[in-house]
Amino acid sequence: MKILLGVTGGIAAYKALELTRLFIKAGHQVQVVMTTGAKEFIQPLSFQALSGHPVRDSLFDANQEAGMGHIELARWADQIVIAPASAETLAKLRMGRADDLLTTLCLATDRPVMLAPAMNRLMWRNAATQENVDVLKQRGLEILPPASGEQACGEVGEGRMPEPQAIFEAVMRAEKMRLQTQQAGSALKAFWHNKALLITAGPTYEDIDPVRFIGNRSSGKMGFAIAEVAAKAGASVTLIAGPVALPTPQGVKRIDVRSAQQMFAAVQQQVAAADCFISAAAVADFRVEQPASQKLKKRQDEEEMTLTLVKNPDIVAWVAAQDNKPFVVGFAAETNDVIDYAKDKLRRKKLDMICANQVGEGQGFERDDNALTLISATEQRGLALSGKREQALELLAFIAQQQSSVD
Ligand code: CTP
Repeated sequence: MKILLGVTGGIAAYKALELTRLFIKAGHQVQVVMTTGAKEFIQPLSFQALSGHPVRDSLFDANQEAGMGHIELARWADQIVIAPASAETLAKLRMGRADDLLTTLCLATDRPVMLAPAMNRLMWRNAATQENVDVLKQRGLEILPPASGEQACGEVGEGRMPEPQAIFEAVMRAEKMRLQTQQAGSALKAFWHNKALLITAGPTYEDIDPVRFIGNRSSGKMGFAIAEVAAKAGASVTLIAGPVALPTPQGVKRIDVRSAQQMFAAVQQQVAAADCFISAAAVADFRVEQPASQKLKKRQDEEEMTLTLVKNPDIVAWVAAQDNKPFVVGFAAETNDVIDYAKDKLRRKKLDMICANQVGEGQGFERDDNALTLISATEQRGLALSGKREQALELLAFIAQQQSSVD
């Protein structure tokens, strides 16, 4: 791996020598960029001796630029690591400044950037620094938590640069994860490219009268995440959405519906073209037999009211019963006995696969993360709690695996 190591001003700068040595020993190439502040603490020559490359420190040095221009240098790197990263560097990166070589390189790259902050404990805890850290993390930079202990200034607390070995291991781990994600992404694309996926998501609303309805707490986020990830993997995705306020994922054909009956009609219309049907919607099991055409009024003498409900069609069971049916995936959102109920639904509805989902007690509905258990006739795989997009990725990979083993 080609590593561009940025060294900024701080007493921990000397530890970057050990980090360089670890990278080189493991067979990686390192080029070091120092800020003016860093050179107050350590000689560039030490890094040059270890890395085998002249140290870069200026944006405006014609001689340095003649060797490898700063844009070429940004392109050269597979990974940028800044250790130590001073409070000033965090602030500059957050602002998108480009007033020295290191910040310019960080702006001019699409490669991963990892920071190992080092500073006085109060500087680290300062709201300005913490806000900078949050913003940089949101932008996808990896920021290692600083270590705790005695500081160069004599204070004790959080803000020390993590040890070189810990930074080295974090860089290796990040690289391994990137490779795994890339491989998983290619496998997913190989299967889903040009496959037609039909998916339902969100709740259904069953009207009582023109202003009231029976609904449920499904947010639709899981189904929308699956649609988004499948479309990215090259599938042609039709998403039948109950009433939710979510944006349509890019490249997805969306059909909005309100009630279970409307959802059923849309599925009947679309299913013939589908290779796979995922029923992620929380379909209401019952609807009001006769919704009122005008708003129901409360009568003074009435202490109770009775609504007659009739059963809705079971959409996923209907699809699973068709000749030439697609690969059918259901969901089971349960508060208790999750796996048993899910397995029962898998059998009863004759599904190819079911995704069991613990809901209630702050889990499942209306959240951005989830922990599904994927169950087929022959396999059961529990997923760790993660974002709904990551769960979607695993789910689509599981379907690909199941179908590939049948083919
Ligand atoms: N489902 C459906 N049509 C219905 C009810 C449910 O397609 N009328 C689908 C859901 O989209 C989900 C699966 O069936 O994929 C399981 O839904 P769930 O509501 O948990 O199952 P029910 O059979 O309704 O069982 P219960 O409500 O008793 O748990």
